[in-house]
Amino acid sequence: MSGEACCECGDSAVDARVKVQNLKKIFNPKTVAIVGASSEPGKVGYQILNNVVQNGFKGKIYPINKKAKEILGVPCFTSLLDIPGDVDFAVIAVPAPLVEGVLKECAQKNVKGTVIITSGFSEIGKVKEEQALKDFADKNDIALLGPNTFGFVYTPANLNASFGPTNVTPGKIAFVSQSGALAISLMGWTMMEKIGLAAVVSLGNKADIGEKELIEYFNDDPNVSVILIYMEGIKDGRKFMTTKVRKPVVILKSGSSQRGAQAAASHTGSLSGSDKIYSAVFNQLGMMRAKTFTQAFGAATVMSMPMPQGDETVIITNGGGIGVSATDECENSGLKLLEDPVWLEEKFRSTMPEFGSTKNPIDVTGGGGCESYRKAVHIALTEDKIKSLIVLYCETAVTDPVQVAKAIVEEYNAVKRNKPIVVTMVGGERSRQAIQILNENQIPAMTEVREAVSGLKSLYTWKEISLRPKEKVKNPEIPAKALELIEAVRREGRTFLLEHESRQVLELCGVPMPKWGFATTADEAVKVAEEKKMYPIAMKIASVDIIHKSDVGGVILNIKNAEDLKARFAQMMETVKKNAPKADLLGVNLCQMVDGVQCIVGMNKDPQFGPAVMFGLGGIFVEVLKDVSFRIVPFNESEAHRLVGEIKAKKLLDGYRGQGAHKESIIKTLMAIQKISQHVKEVDINPLITNKDGSYAVDARIII
Ligand code: COA
Repeated sequence: MSGEACCECGDSAVDARVKVQNLKKIFNPKTVAIVGASSEPGKVGYQILNNVVQNGFKGKIYPINKKAKEILGVPCFTSLLDIPGDVDFAVIAVPAPLVEGVLKECAQKNVKGTVIITSGFSEIGKVKEEQALKDFADKNDIALLGPNTFGFVYTPANLNASFGPTNVTPGKIAFVSQSGALAISLMGWTMMEKIGLAAVVSLGNKADIGEKELIEYFNDDPNVSVILIYMEGIKDGRKFMTTKVRKPVVILKSGSSQRGAQAAASHTGSLSGSDKIYSAVFNQLGMMRAKTFTQAFGAATVMSMPMPQGDETVIITNGGGIGVSATDECENSGLKLLEDPVWLEEKFRSTMPEFGSTKNPIDVTGGGGCESYRKAVHIALTEDKIKSLIVLYCETAVTDPVQVAKAIVEEYNAVKRNKPIVVTMVGGERSRQAIQILNENQIPAMTEVREAVSGLKSLYTWKEISLRPKEKVKNPEIPAKALELIEAVRREGRTFLLEHESRQVLELCGVPMPKWGFATTADEAVKVAEEKKMYPIAMKIASVDIIHKSDVGGVILNIKNAEDLKARFAQMMETVKKNAPKADLLGVNLCQMVDGVQCIVGMNKDPQFGPAVMFGLGGIFVEVLKDVSFRIVPFNESEAHRLVGEIKAKKLLDGYRGQGAHKESIIKTLMAIQKISQHVKEVDINPLITNKDGSYAVDARIII
């Protein structure tokens, strides 16, 4: 199974793969050197050595210090070069001006994995100094994490090469964080919740190793089952687009507000693109986006569950309110609750007091004790008709949550973890203990209903992603004639194509057009209209000098026949000449009037990710609700279908209240527009009108 899509804009750099391989030296070294290890307990270099020693790392440990003979009982060396034998990995924690020298020693010693803890590089504007480290590391095939990182923890190797907390709960989640402080604090939180981690990696400034390299490394690491990333921004968007996703990746991306994006940019020195573009990128790569930390960790823990074998979910609860709330969340997120009242009554009636409810949610009520839960959970786990399970519990004085948790664990283990289950426990200290027990037994448990439901939904999303066929995505090619037309305009020194030129180019690429034509005189207009059987017609002035055509009387709609057309032509010329006396009038664009749902299709260049295609519903939907989504070029037809399906008002396209859309021709437009993406700056098809018979680019504009 794989959510991987191959893109021809591809991973050409061979050294990127070498870097990924060399990450093994960082996470699974036989020998670790800590350059800048200190004997002063308050210092970073002391804390890192202490963590390496305390965590029981099995390989050789070499503290490097100019003066000390030994630190924490480990003999020291004055330089990396003095160490006898090979060194796989070096942690560098010396002041910034000394880092480059140490990196050179790493190269001399053939050290292939390094983590630079030291701050004082691009995050304070020292971009050149950081680039020098990166260039040197590239030249010597050294994988470099940081600088400005708190290090990492990798539990399968008992390696804590960080100055964060000493202990984390071992598990299967790899947590990669662009914020060091946040990673440190969440290490403590995961310990408390008993959420198991395989790795915690602080990315720092990402001079070299970034999200792509780590995802691809963990793809092949059997100790990791899910990758959770806290991200503020991406440094190299095109490179990120080549990331191969083979395991669930959950992303918490901050900076979704304008101010948040600015804060993120100043925090890490990376540019933060538009939030909608980031969502597009994650969707396209098959990564899942979470909104909060708890939601992200919730989703990550649920990924350890077996894949659901169908859609029908059952909720078991002892509280009506919390059950309703979970029902709402299921509906909002698109999780399907099992609806079969007769069957549910037959199966679950015996599990609850008389006043309980067998409608889904199954409400065993506050009067239903631990045994009610045990029975109900047993039935839900053993009945094939039920494909996934949400268990909710509100703490009461009559039922001990710890006992409920233990019963769930026993029942789940008895059926050999056969289907996904998520649990929410709301209450005090005992409920918290119950959550810990569940998490320790790899049953995802949370304090919030929303997190449990969205976690389960993520598992369904991952299932969908992992079943996507592996398809090669080709870079779209522009037809020669279309390129010629664009280049001719460029040679003229113009920055935009006139409407009829835009239409010609787009039509050559395959964008569906209504009947259209161009005319310089009234007689010619009539001839074109008659020949193409175009009535009723929209007529627009064509002039290089006029941008806002309606403002000067340059748009007339609904022209019904030849007589009308002749009169309107004359009228338009006269009005426009009066309103824009200096404009050079080239003629008129004629376009058949079409009815249907107004959509908008556009192409723009994102500074980080390159050409991005936008689709949404036009009119009020785009202006007020900003109901549009994006995909990064190149993408294939399946991706275009997903783009269209992402629109909030998609019901209108599905034929709501007699409306209807011609999806094939919308997809065709989205595929066609990609062909010119490398050759122009911006394309705007607004509106693309779609009805049951087809879609039509009613207005088109290309900027070069
Ligand atoms: N080889 C070996 N050891 C060296 C050395 C070298 N070339 N140069 C210096 N050292 C030793 C020092 O003697 C010192 O050991 P000592 O305490 O026994 O004397 C130790 O390395 C550390 O050097 P020092 O000059 O005391 O620096 P420091 O500990 O005050 O600061 C950093 C070093 C890296 C911690 C600091 O520069 C820094 O960047 N701090 C911020 C780290 C951070 O926040 N990262 C991001 C987290 S998200």
